[in-house]
Amino acid sequence: LTHKPEPTRVVAPDGRRGELKISMWSDDDVDELGAYWARNREHLLPTQPNREPDFWTVTGQGQRVERASHDVAIGRMFPFLVRENGRLVAEIVLSDVARGAFCSANLGYSVDGKRLRLGIASWAVAAVVDIAFSDLGLHRLQAGTTVENVASQKVLERCEFARIGVAAQYLAIAGSWRDHVLWQRTNDGMPPPAVG
Ligand SMILES: CC(C)(COP(=O)(O)OP(=O)(O)OC[C@H]1O[C@@H](n2cnc3c(N)ncnc32)[C@H](O)[C@@H]1OP(=O)(O)O)[C@@H](O)C(=O)NCCC(=O)NCCS
Repeated sequence: LTHKPEPTRVVAPDGRRGELKISMWSDDDVDELGAYWARNREHLLPTQPNREPDFWTVTGQGQRVERASHDVAIGRMFPFLVRENGRLVAEIVLSDVARGAFCSANLGYSVDGKRLRLGIASWAVAAVVDIAFSDLGLHRLQAGTTVENVASQKVLERCEFARIGVAAQYLAIAGSWRDHVLWQRTNDGMPPPAVG
């Protein structure tokens, strides 16, 4: 990518929750990211890969942001944070961004354990779909949920992802290779790119 987009979306408070704003993370967000992962450790452990102990700290999140910086710079990764009235309440990341005939990316997300079932994930996924298709020129997003993760499956259904099927032993989550339901949403109006 020759230009680095910095897309953002905002939605007004709706009675259940405050103003939500989504934007890409920066080095300045490391302290808040560390606090988010530290306070959500118990909530998020069951849906995470095995993490080094440092992952749940400011130090580990600083290393994570630093490690990701190359992928972010070349447009292979778009890591977003969602703030509610300025406070970090969710993370949502597009990774493994592929161009050419694929124009596809992988989607992963989590919401603060104290702010669940307020529509935050549904809003964030819809916002990232809009950003991916309107601003980033992508044609397809893929997400994978463990077979048991009904909450995440509901979010994807709400956001018009289609269920592809179950991939056996797709990803190592919480210490074992877990079967996943794979989902995709496509940008149906997008003309195919010319590929060199
Ligand atoms: C999955 C997750 C992101 C959902 O976040 P959320 O902000 O609570 O989701 P939403 O409020 O947008 O929920 C949308 C719908 O999902 C369903 N849902 C959400 N949580 C649910 C639960 N625990 N059980 C059953 N259904 C649930 C509901 O139908 C909900 O709508 P409603 O409650 O308004 O009727 C959150 O539970 C989470 O962070 N889980 C751990 C991390 C994770 O699983 N990430 C995804 C990995 S694939």
